[in-house]
Amino acid sequence: MPNEEFEHAIAEKYNDKVNPISTRWLRRAQAVMPGLNSNYASFRLNDQPPAIVFDRSEGLRLFDVDGKDYIDFVCGMGPAIWGNGNKEFLWAIHQQLDRLMSFGSAVGHTTLEIELAEKIVQLVPCAEQVRFCISGSEAVQLAARLARGVSGKRYLLRFEGHYHGWLDPMLAGKANSSSSRLPTPIAADSDSAGLSSSCLEETLLIPWNDAEGLEAVLRKHGDDIALVIMEPIMCNSACCPPKAGYLQAVRKLCDQFGVLLCFDEVITGFRVGLGGAQALFGVTPDLAIFAKALAGGLPLACVAGRRDLMSAIAENKVLAVGTFNSFPLAIAAAIKNLEMLSRDDCAYYSRVDHHQIRLMEGIREIAKTHGYDVLVQGPRGFFYLDFTKRNVIHTPDELVDSDATKRMRFRSLLHKHGVLIGGNSRFTVSGEFTEADIQDTLHRINEAMKAL
Ligand SMILES: Cc1ncc(COP(=O)(O)O)c(C=O)c1O
Repeated sequence: MPNEEFEHAIAEKYNDKVNPISTRWLRRAQAVMPGLNSNYASFRLNDQPPAIVFDRSEGLRLFDVDGKDYIDFVCGMGPAIWGNGNKEFLWAIHQQLDRLMSFGSAVGHTTLEIELAEKIVQLVPCAEQVRFCISGSEAVQLAARLARGVSGKRYLLRFEGHYHGWLDPMLAGKANSSSSRLPTPIAADSDSAGLSSSCLEETLLIPWNDAEGLEAVLRKHGDDIALVIMEPIMCNSACCPPKAGYLQAVRKLCDQFGVLLCFDEVITGFRVGLGGAQALFGVTPDLAIFAKALAGGLPLACVAGRRDLMSAIAENKVLAVGTFNSFPLAIAAAIKNLEMLSRDDCAYYSRVDHHQIRLMEGIREIAKTHGYDVLVQGPRGFFYLDFTKRNVIHTPDELVDSDATKRMRFRSLLHKHGVLIGGNSRFTVSGEFTEADIQDTLHRINEAMKAL
């Protein structure tokens, strides 16, 4: 959009009398930056960035440069499990800064990374060995390479509505199942321009929560598929739960057809519980990815999995390197994070449950008083909000009566009333919220619904 038109849209949408300093900063940003630094939601929805420019936080409140506070249900897109101001957590990071900040993993191990790997092996069912890196996208890339390197097979199978990072292999592909051999991959509508055509050819995309559909594809093409990768709970699209028995069926089918299974626990990891969704559902994948909440707000990710697969890295058969792998500051943060999450019989998770139930029930009540039908669903730590008559959905296709315009408008109104939520209408719930935060949030949500 040309600059003038853009400025007009911003002024219309946010009224620069309300957020004058943010609006000035946004104009400066527009001159030197091509949009928000992570713009998947705006890319998909063709949404404009809001005129909110942040400069500080207090716990789970963010403040914009105009001094307005926002209750933070984005939590850094998942990582900030302790918000921004937990003193004990911050102190562990300060102490590590004094001890060892930067380290090149190519020259040796640190005691810290060994301790953290041991902890993850203890907590996560599939984890016999662990390899650290920085972002979830990178860890997904490593899992795909491991699966191909070990199996000698070429194709990756993933599912509609799931997100596994922004790198080419996981953005590409859509199955055109009319083909007789492998479903012919075609470009998914919403994917980026500039994707490598080989990635497009090697990634298959099918509907989730449909064990029969998966069986049909594996029966036909299992010999060519290296990896089945999925979010065990579809947190990136409407926080859909797996249908009863679905994950178990997937595990069985992957075993039956000799295909490796990876759970992408970038969102669910350490949020739904210490062992991730795999512990919650009692289904153990061959590989799993953790990132986001692993280090409580610092950048850290890992691939965890079966020793016989991970050993391909030790044998120098599959390459996994990176300057910032095992970044000591993030590793120290992760150790502290897991220690705090485990404390007092995992009391943190009870606090999350308490706040989340109040919020989800409170929102349903408020919607009822304003005459709206809402869907509020999600596992511990997250929930999705939409305007529809459905009480629970298992794939976003079931949202036939949902009104996307209303959903986006409500999200803008929430932001206007100082409740920050994610681009995909997702609330992230931290155990660090106070009773006052929750009451304040429900009050603000009521105001936003009144204005809808
Ligand atoms: C399930 C899932 N996998 C992978 C990723 C990519 O992680 P990152 O953004 O750290 O690269 C994300 C990011 O949102 C995600 O939600």
